[in-house]
Amino acid sequence: MDATTTQSGAPVASDSESLTVGPDGATVLHDRYLLEKLAQFHRERIPERVVHAKGGGAHGEFVVTGDVSEYTCAAVFQPGTVTPTLQRFSSVAGEQGSPDTWRDVRGFSVRFYTTDGNYDIVGNNTPVFFIRDAMKFPDFIHSQKRLPGSGLRDADMQWDFWTLSPESAHQVLYLMGDRGLPRSWREMNGFGSHTFQWTSESGERSWVKYHFVTNQGDHALDAAEAELIAGADADHYRRDLHESIARGDFPSWDLKVQVMPFETAKTYRFNPFDVTKVWPHADFPLIPVGTHTLNRNPENFFAEIEQAAFSPGNTVRGVGISPDKMLMARVFAYPDSQRYRVGANFAEVPVNSPRVTTHSYSQDGAARARFAPASLPVYAPNSFGGPVAVPESGLDSRWESDGELMRAAASLHSEDSDFGQAGTLYRDVLTVDSRDRLHATLRGQRALLTVPGIVERFDAYWTSVDADLGAAVSGQTGPGQSRPAALSAM
Ligand code: HEM
Repeated sequence: MDATTTQSGAPVASDSESLTVGPDGATVLHDRYLLEKLAQFHRERIPERVVHAKGGGAHGEFVVTGDVSEYTCAAVFQPGTVTPTLQRFSSVAGEQGSPDTWRDVRGFSVRFYTTDGNYDIVGNNTPVFFIRDAMKFPDFIHSQKRLPGSGLRDADMQWDFWTLSPESAHQVLYLMGDRGLPRSWREMNGFGSHTFQWTSESGERSWVKYHFVTNQGDHALDAAEAELIAGADADHYRRDLHESIARGDFPSWDLKVQVMPFETAKTYRFNPFDVTKVWPHADFPLIPVGTHTLNRNPENFFAEIEQAAFSPGNTVRGVGISPDKMLMARVFAYPDSQRYRVGANFAEVPVNSPRVTTHSYSQDGAARARFAPASLPVYAPNSFGGPVAVPESGLDSRWESDGELMRAAASLHSEDSDFGQAGTLYRDVLTVDSRDRLHATLRGQRALLTVPGIVERFDAYWTSVDADLGAAVSGQTGPGQSRPAALSAM
């Protein structure tokens, strides 16, 4: 058996008794092992993620089965390529210990350890988002978290923000419907949500949206079931994923993309970079890319999942971002949060290290462990053989942009209504059953509201999505009066 040692390697005399003056006397300050044990313990926690704090994840691989090489030269998407991956699932609003089955949007982050560096898709189980401008993100999250006085979550605060932000209607409809309560992380789809840019070997650019389609079937919990599970097992999703992988039942998702020609974006009937909108499948059908399978549990949850630092800014040659105001801000937000949460050298944590050698002029900082050879210069440009940037690396997304500096709420596209796609989702996609569950959930939410003005806006918000929906949730029609589901889906 190994001896217990101090952090500096010396064997210690006791695992359980402090050094004291006699059996009942004072504890001495020079018991260096006691001091070290307590001091290390006090520093075990790092700040939880400011959003998406509760989660879980696993390692896997991505195999390309389709051929999208006419659209992207990204190594990870070339036919037959196999790439190691890391995935983290999460809830958005709850803290680290919060129950997995509280109603929420679920995070869906995938890292590809490609031969050109790490590529991260940091999405959700919904294809859209609540807001379209990053300026609103902290306010939106504050409204979802807790009141400063009581420390309680609050329906008035949530619905106040949502009903004052009509662009949220599409995503709130998803959230209050079945997507808000997946049966497990394995049984939900994932979406990149934003529009991204792909570039082919010949330099041709396209716009793409990512869809991860679950091979386990898309299943939801009903609200009563979710509430019971929340009480019985707060870690229900985390446990389900871990146990499934441990028994060799590996969950998988087929990755598909919608592709929009570069020029089409300029004249499309709504802003294709608006993350509150989906692209109709009739205009942009799904194209298969490959299959993502999770097949290995983390050996150390803290090291591999808690310290994982995903970022929409981690792109590689052939893939990039788009002029989506939210996405551009996210490029800054993630590494900024991770420098605070994990430390300035978060990229050195093994799970964050790319599987390629890095050559960077960044150096030092707290707990830096890797250093460039001393023979290399520490500045660029230099005449001593240091690494040199490659202008044709293809890392930067490209689009033309012109106009005055302004703060604009609306875009120039003709059909940019806040409620249109939400109405289509309600009328043409949801089944009768799921509409009934939605009505019950919304009636329950309405009953929690205590401020008359917010109740009025709540009714108006849902009436703007669909007059029948408004009537059903405001109590003007009874349950079971929903219209039959149409067949077309977006
Ligand atoms: C401007 C808007 C947004 C801002 C400022 C923002 C900011 C953040 C921050 C700071 C984190 C914590 C990162 C960390 O410490 O590791 C985070 C996590 C996350 N965000 Fe966002 N976010 C935004 C919008 C979105 C959108 C639109 C999506 C999905 C489409 C999304 C999905 C996620 C996910 C999945 C995580 C968890 C990542 C993980 O698994 O570690 N966020 N966000």
